[in-house]
Amino acid sequence: MDKTYFIETYGCQMNVYDSEFIADLLSMKGYSRAASPEDASVVLINTCSVRARAERKAITRVQQLVALKRSGRPAYIGVIGCMAQRLGSDLEKAGCRVDLILGPDTYLDLPQIIDGLENRDGPFVDIGQDPACLYSLKPRVHDSVTAFVTIMRGCNNFCSFCIVPYVRGRERSKPLGEVVAEVEHMVGLGVKEVTLLGQNVSSYCGDGTDFASLLRRVSDIEGLRRIRFTTSHPRDLTPEVIEAMRELAKVCEHLHLPLQSGSDRILKIMNRGYTYGQYRDTVELARSRVPGLALTTDLMVGFPSEDDADHEATLQAVKDIAFESAFTFKYSARPGTRASELEDDVPDAEKTRRLQEILGIENRMIDACKQSLAGQEVEILVEGASKREEGYLTGRTRKNWLAKLPAKGVRKGEVVVARVTGVSRWMITCDKVLLKGGGLI
Ligand code: SAH
Ligand code: SF4
Ligand code: F3S
Repeated sequence: MDKTYFIETYGCQMNVYDSEFIADLLSMKGYSRAASPEDASVVLINTCSVRARAERKAITRVQQLVALKRSGRPAYIGVIGCMAQRLGSDLEKAGCRVDLILGPDTYLDLPQIIDGLENRDGPFVDIGQDPACLYSLKPRVHDSVTAFVTIMRGCNNFCSFCIVPYVRGRERSKPLGEVVAEVEHMVGLGVKEVTLLGQNVSSYCGDGTDFASLLRRVSDIEGLRRIRFTTSHPRDLTPEVIEAMRELAKVCEHLHLPLQSGSDRILKIMNRGYTYGQYRDTVELARSRVPGLALTTDLMVGFPSEDDADHEATLQAVKDIAFESAFTFKYSARPGTRASELEDDVPDAEKTRRLQEILGIENRMIDACKQSLAGQEVEILVEGASKREEGYLTGRTRKNWLAKLPAKGVRKGEVVVARVTGVSRWMITCDKVLLKGGGLI
């Protein structure tokens, strides 16, 4: 068998990081990346379980690949990640006759496991959970000027709707020294911006170091220009983290703080551990201490028993807080979670209506926010050539907005200050580069 692999990744940034870890592991064992599944001997699908739809999508894709395999290529198909953890051998019943089923804590042995697949009858399944499992990613090459660095895995919060604590296991933090070594390694490969990842970074505790201290330590790394992090849990975000954001020039003024619902009654059944009032207080503190802070959030509609008054409270929260952007989801019952014991009593059409209503308000707010940017100066980290428009480069502002700028005289990896000359909902255009090297907060 030739040693070629192809990985398809679904779900959150945690999975993106894990896929990169696996790619590096395989390349150390002599594998090379294939351009498509047809060109690969091993195809891995890294899956997500967070909503039923995410699983359906992955299952459909696996079925397509299984059909492809019948024509001789690829030789092996593996389902890995959160859905593999949740379904294990039951994947076969879901029409996924694959060769390999691996949960998120079992990737270290992957090359040896693939070597052992040849004479097997039936899939190799390992969904064992390892409460100490942490991966360290130090690839030899990295094409992008941005990188994810996972600083913790798992989650202890057990929000009643959420499958993550079941499929990802208990929360554990990567030791401080390892996080720093990883970031330094990535900076050595040309990375200018890191995003520190965890399901709840505010509760990071590596070797007794809290998240605010971690930010300070990472910020000392020479050559690194920007630091982002996600996700912060509203209950655990400390004033110390907010102070670190204020003081450290490298930490971008962007906070993703999932609210989920504006109704205290629903927040309580969700087991989120805060009231809307407490959430607002945190937002007020953050906005008062970190000038120009961009606040984004996650919202869920149609949680069991959510009525018009609860939904109204969420709409009001969206208007009051004026998030720079929001991810909005319809509640999806996940087997084994506490909420799945409650009746999923909001009809799908009503969930759609509530979602649209939130999106309508949110989109108007995003537009207003973008309009106000016209003529202003923003700092952009240039990430590479625009895929859509020749002669343009794209990058992100400190607030994480996508921006494009003329390619002339500017290179990937540079931090520039540019004037905003055009805005649309998802992209800002900067036709004038004012300053190279950055410096604007
Ligand atoms: N750890 C992060 C969120 C991880 S999941 C946090 O605590 O915020 C990302 C988002 O998916 C959640 O914020 C939530 O809005 C949504 N989500 C999680 N479980 C869901 C479910 N069962 N149905 C619909 N949306 C869900
Ligand atoms: Fe899920 Fe809650 Fe943990 Fe986020 S904090 S991963 S929503 S259980
Ligand atoms: Fe999905 Fe697993 Fe992430 S369930 S959201 S890929 S941790």
